Amino acid sequence: MPNSVAHDPMVEEELLSLAKRVLPGGGFGNVGHPTIISRGHGCRVWDVAGREYVDYLLGSGPMIVGHAHPEVLEVIQQVVAEGTTFFTNNPYGIRLAAEIADAMECVEQVRFVSSGSEADMYAMRLMRAHKRKDKILKFEGGYHGMSDYGLISTTPKRVTNFPEGAADSAGIPAAVQQQMVVAPYNDLATVESLIRENLKDLAGIIVEPFQRLIPPVPGFLEGLRQLCNEYELVLCFDEVVTGFRFAYGGAQAYYGVIPDICTMGKAIGGGFPLAAIGGRSDIMVHFDKSAVAEDDFMTQIGTLSGNPVAAAAGLKTLEILRRPGGYEHMFQQGMRLIEGYKTSISRHGILAQVVGDAPMFDLVFNDKKVIDYRSAIGDPGMMAKYNAGMRKRGILKSEGKHYMAHAHTDEDIEATLKAFDETMAEL
Ligand SMILES: Cc1ncc(COP(=O)(O)O)c(C=O)c1O
Repeated sequence: MPNSVAHDPMVEEELLSLAKRVLPGGGFGNVGHPTIISRGHGCRVWDVAGREYVDYLLGSGPMIVGHAHPEVLEVIQQVVAEGTTFFTNNPYGIRLAAEIADAMECVEQVRFVSSGSEADMYAMRLMRAHKRKDKILKFEGGYHGMSDYGLISTTPKRVTNFPEGAADSAGIPAAVQQQMVVAPYNDLATVESLIRENLKDLAGIIVEPFQRLIPPVPGFLEGLRQLCNEYELVLCFDEVVTGFRFAYGGAQAYYGVIPDICTMGKAIGGGFPLAAIGGRSDIMVHFDKSAVAEDDFMTQIGTLSGNPVAAAAGLKTLEILRRPGGYEHMFQQGMRLIEGYKTSISRHGILAQVVGDAPMFDLVFNDKKVIDYRSAIGDPGMMAKYNAGMRKRGILKSEGKHYMAHAHTDEDIEATLKAFDETMAEL
């Protein structure tokens, strides 16, 4: 195992104080704790002081085949030696687009960008360009990246009356808020009435097919598909998380509902900055200046779009994911944790439940039936204690989610169950 950064408590101390000085809030803004990870291998990571963790953060999802996978490393080392970015087309990006089009049923063509936030921002613009209408319907609690439009009612601090949205961040113009129609997840009747009210201005619907940790109730995604057909709206699945994770063909394959366009990220970049918008050719055509009228053309360029190193890492990652048994293993390991967690929660009498599905799940500290953003609000104090308890016992996870990998071993699962049970005892 490579060990290029010294694992030393003194180094940690120095970096922590340096981070406090030069980074706002002492960090990159992604996590609420100061842990500095310097190394990862498979599903284990190590911090600069040398503490080892079983990793369910997985770089917030991309490392689905595990960190420093030897085959991914071999490929990227070859690619890097030949130059790292050209701005023009490159062979790896073209082949990755073809692989994505084979895998994801709604995708005939692909446009690469560098992050999921960008993919979602452009997907919403694409829907507006295609329909020549300005409004997009999204669901309260659905996360579609950091653009002004994406950050309407993702984590609203105040309760609004649907379809009014709330800006999740300072600096979002009020005009943007008025272009987003916000609906409760898993509630088709409300969606339909909001579509009717806004039909004149509504271009389409963007939805996480599995919203954060909340599964769609039976018929919900099918109902959205039907409503979009009936009212001639574009349906976009945000598959930044679910793509190549719930199934090789994404949530659209897992749930059997095919959107018009989708966004992807995380897994397809193999641990490098790469994301994409994909969809039907008659919608993707707005990216093609030579094929549409000037007013219908959607300008879109990016310095690192389709970067060869990222595309090569993504291609190799997808090849590994296609191997027999990988998804079955990931689902089994996820279910073992879910079942073990449930047993432990009830043994310790904790007011909490496991929400999610085998590839992605976590605790919600309430006893409500979780079907939408509001019913998923738990006890933030308990959540913070639980996360800190797990981290203290060598389990690294996101603040509201476990990501499972094809590489989690039996040993990882056993260590995690033990840490979880101890944490519940402590709570
Ligand atoms: C569903 C979903 N969409 C979009 C994004 C944004 O992706 P990125 O962090 O690459 O900008 C995320 C990130 O977690 C996500 O979960």
